[in-house]
Amino acid sequence: MAHPQKKLAAEVPADNNDAAAAAVRQALADGLLAPHAQIEPKFLYDTLGSSLFTAITQLPEYYPTRCEAEIFARHAADIAAHTGSVQTLIDLGAGDCVKAERLFPTLKPRRYIPVDISADYLQQAVDRLRRTWPDIQITALGLDFSQGLRLPPVVPPAQRLFFYPGSSIGNLDPDAALAMLVRIRNQSPEGGLLVGIDRIKPREVLEPAYDDALHLTAAFNLNMLRHVNQLVGTDFDVQDWAHHAFYNEQDCRIEMHLRARCGVVVSWPGGTREFVAGETIHTENSHKYSVEGFTDLLERAGFRDIRHWSDARDWFSVFSART
Ligand code: AVJ
Repeated sequence: MAHPQKKLAAEVPADNNDAAAAAVRQALADGLLAPHAQIEPKFLYDTLGSSLFTAITQLPEYYPTRCEAEIFARHAADIAAHTGSVQTLIDLGAGDCVKAERLFPTLKPRRYIPVDISADYLQQAVDRLRRTWPDIQITALGLDFSQGLRLPPVVPPAQRLFFYPGSSIGNLDPDAALAMLVRIRNQSPEGGLLVGIDRIKPREVLEPAYDDALHLTAAFNLNMLRHVNQLVGTDFDVQDWAHHAFYNEQDCRIEMHLRARCGVVVSWPGGTREFVAGETIHTENSHKYSVEGFTDLLERAGFRDIRHWSDARDWFSVFSART
């Protein structure tokens, strides 16, 4: 009898024990049964979802990735001077690891710890990275860091730089973002944080970035239903749902929803939920900040020595802060 093929690299420990999987199923079911149904945005990222997001970053409408790359290209030396020497670069939501890799020549980290919930996608990225950067010690963590992050004991506490690019922190409400910043600061004595923030700007620029002409963002949003079908055993039919994204000016955030095209009954082992035509499932918030607003958040989290750099249009900013 053939043995199932073992994964070659075991260094991406996925959160795949039974208790963790049951907790994930319970949280998803609770979200579906809430008066206004919701699915947390981390469930956008199965392997296909991560690939779709990488494709989104190449769309003409999706400016954040290009703006951030422009900032790192233009201000690399300045940014490195501010972060100081980096022993360990910890990349939160690393994805394809491309953003961090571009910083390797200037930051020269000895250790790189990419963290991502999309464990298989991360594994592929890290396999490639190891060949290109044999002198950097890489420890990949395929896990959900949204509830806290326990770093393996081999990671020394000194001179850590947390890297949180792409405006991913925008997925959190300001209160949760503050709590995340506090956790990061507590994990990094005499270290720093390099974080990308999307700026408040006109709706005419924001909305097309989340509702593109090729409908890649729609596919990204809808793919979540297939991922949830896999995790929970729900019977979502992607055809019954439509992508809906808009700027909520009051709360300074893009909201993504999935809207029922018709009356839908969704069932899964242990539950069922009825949706009337037009009812929505809230799938993501993407908060936008002013420089003052995000500086205030960093200060309240206890960071000091706060600096920022922006692209030519002031659409995106990179903040560096020290603990
Ligand atoms: C990866 C969370 C930064 O909010 O812009 C892209 C995700 N959602 N298009 C963002 C996303 C829709 C993205 N982040």
